[in-house]
Amino acid sequence: MSLAVNISSLTIRNPLMLASGVLGTTPSMLLKAYKAGAGAVVTKSLTLTPRAGNVNPVIVDLGYGLINAIGLANPGVHRFLEECTSIRDELSNIPVVFSVAGFRIEDYVGAVKIIVESGLAKAIELNLSCPHVAETKAFSEDPKLAGRVVKEVCDISPVPVFVKLGFESNLLSVAESVVKHGASAITAINTIRSMAIDIRAKRPVLSSIYGGLSGPSLKPIALRVIYDLYENFEIPLIGVGGVNTWMDVIEYMLAGARAVQIGTAIRKRGLKLFKEIIRGIENFMEEEGIRDLKEIVGAAH
Ligand SMILES: Cc1cc2nc3c(=O)[nH]c(=O)nc-3n(C[C@H](O)[C@H](O)[C@H](O)COP(=O)(O)O)c2cc1C
Repeated sequence: MSLAVNISSLTIRNPLMLASGVLGTTPSMLLKAYKAGAGAVVTKSLTLTPRAGNVNPVIVDLGYGLINAIGLANPGVHRFLEECTSIRDELSNIPVVFSVAGFRIEDYVGAVKIIVESGLAKAIELNLSCPHVAETKAFSEDPKLAGRVVKEVCDISPVPVFVKLGFESNLLSVAESVVKHGASAITAINTIRSMAIDIRAKRPVLSSIYGGLSGPSLKPIALRVIYDLYENFEIPLIGVGGVNTWMDVIEYMLAGARAVQIGTAIRKRGLKLFKEIIRGIENFMEEEGIRDLKEIVGAAH
């Protein structure tokens, strides 16, 4: 029985990936997630220079999902790579995807240059879609700008470039542009811009007013996006949003995803979730007589 999948030239041992931002804030966490069973791991989005992010409160737990407004807080690409030094050998043997965010095309290109020179990235994931950082909105909404950043990054990257899209009304036009400009895969979707209000204080809960919704409430929407992308493009797809059980993974794959990323559910259930989900998938494959998990990708169409 094979659970291995390939996303462009990257082959991973199973379709479960650690989503950007949830645990991958330090290199040792990435290693831990891989040892716990993830097929690949994605770093927190890194920017060319360090970012402090927003002031507290930055997370609201709704029960049916989270709203976060971390604001792309990260140590910057140089510091993060320094932190990788002590576990460099181990890290270079696992599929680490470096997520990159920026505010101008030069920021993305500059950060990617440094990352690819380190030799640690098996792929790059361009985060074009942080829904609560105003400066990144243009990249997720403007097909031309999205296409330009993808092209310039692809021109200098020897590893596959995944592009993470947000939930925009013109998502298919943005997707068309990034496909045309050389993306190796599309990751969909990022969190959705949302808010919560404290009824006693009569004010928005988050210091930045808006945050990004993740978790179970996102799943049917993200699943629909993957289904639509599969109908329209041949590019490999990575589904993300509300994955919590093995059944969610199967649903995403039937809709057309080669792999899925998991974020919020790990915050709640811890890293043991990877092995639990893999056991569920293996049982399903046995019951259904599926020998190679790749066979089911897009089968719902
Ligand atoms: C606390 C938190 C931080 C996140 N940080 C990032 C980030 O730095 N870059 C990014 O592309 N996505 C980030 N995300 C979005 C996730 O990668 C994912 O797209 C989203 O949460 C939906 O998946 P989930 O429902 O499994 O959490 C973050 C999500 C959360 C909850």
